[in-house]
Amino acid sequence: MIHLGVIGTNWISHQFVAAALETKKYDLTAVYSRKLESAQEFGSKYGDVEYAIDLETFFGIEHMDTVYIASPNSLHFEQAKQAILAKKNVIVEKPAFSNPAEMDEIIQLANQQKVFFFEAARNIHETSFKKIGDLMPLKNRIIGANFSYMKYSSRYDQVLDGQEPNIFSPHFSGGALMDLGVYLIYATIAWFGMPKESHYFAKKVATGVDGLGTAILRYDEFDVTLQAGKIGDSFLDSEIYFENGTLVLDGINAISKAEFHDRNRKETDIISLTVEENPMVEEALDFAEVILNPTDKDWGLKYEEWIELARNVNKVVTTLRKSAGIVFTADK
Ligand SMILES: NC(=O)c1ccc[n+]([C@@H]2O[C@H](COP(=O)([O-])OP(=O)(O)OC[C@H]3O[C@@H](n4cnc5c(N)ncnc54)[C@H](OP(=O)(O)O)[C@@H]3O)[C@@H](O)[C@H]2O)c1
Repeated sequence: MIHLGVIGTNWISHQFVAAALETKKYDLTAVYSRKLESAQEFGSKYGDVEYAIDLETFFGIEHMDTVYIASPNSLHFEQAKQAILAKKNVIVEKPAFSNPAEMDEIIQLANQQKVFFFEAARNIHETSFKKIGDLMPLKNRIIGANFSYMKYSSRYDQVLDGQEPNIFSPHFSGGALMDLGVYLIYATIAWFGMPKESHYFAKKVATGVDGLGTAILRYDEFDVTLQAGKIGDSFLDSEIYFENGTLVLDGINAISKAEFHDRNRKETDIISLTVEENPMVEEALDFAEVILNPTDKDWGLKYEEWIELARNVNKVVTTLRKSAGIVFTADK
């Protein structure tokens, strides 16, 4: 059994705890919040839970072995570092870190301390995502792709009101690319590998981060266009173009429908997919397998793959946002 502690008391932490409990491989041991009432309010529905309002006390809870971090992006690094130094495994919400320097330091520290670090990039752990990935080599050559994830954030209303909510703040490493674009980049690199060039054209909002933008990732034989945004909504499907047809996906962050339109056969194949009600169950299960089977070779290899992918995604996201002149406090 994994004894889980949680940092961050927003709805996403409830969703992860529900997923973790559903796997029957975790219990909720402790909750950290800046306010005792928030910690208690969060933990009250899960039974016997310890509470802490300072991180030293929280990381000192000995029987807690794994920490899920869902605080604003720029806080992940210091919190993960402190957790790892206390010999806890860390599951860090996407985007895990602000830049490659932070990513590299955490990976190195986790290896030294013999604990695991996971970036909670839930889409790559979904069965449907893996099934689409398995299809890639079966199709004819890829000639391009177009992925989109744009969802209006009510917190943009605060920006329009002259405020700086965390998710739109350069101090908290926010913006559309970091928040939603990261899912698209995960898919692109998982399916096609590292691009040889990356460019980002962003529409910035008053706080200095990107409200929406278009990224182009260039490969030897094709280009991938990505559209991410938090100041408008997109209803577009995502598509991968092959020499013999087009694969249409209803989303990249959570794929529930996929169709291949074969140009030669003039037919459409519906690809059957299974989707969990709670989209975080599959990642919670994957992380649990690694934590509970630390000497298993296959899980060890998968872990190394996720680390390499997390590192590459972080590199590309950083290149993209720098190409659009987006600077975070964490870069300085
Ligand atoms: N995987 C997914 O589907 C998904 C979905 C949503 C969000 N996320 C990720 O989850 C993380 C949190 O996102 P969010 O939208 O929930 O963020 P948020 O509302 O800005 O903050 C999350 C929690 O962090 C604490 N916090 C907020 N501001 C803080 C500050 N200034 N200093 C210290 N602690 C602060 C608060 O907990 P306390 O008040 O209890 O201290 C808050 O509940 C992000 O990395 C985001 O990308 C992932």
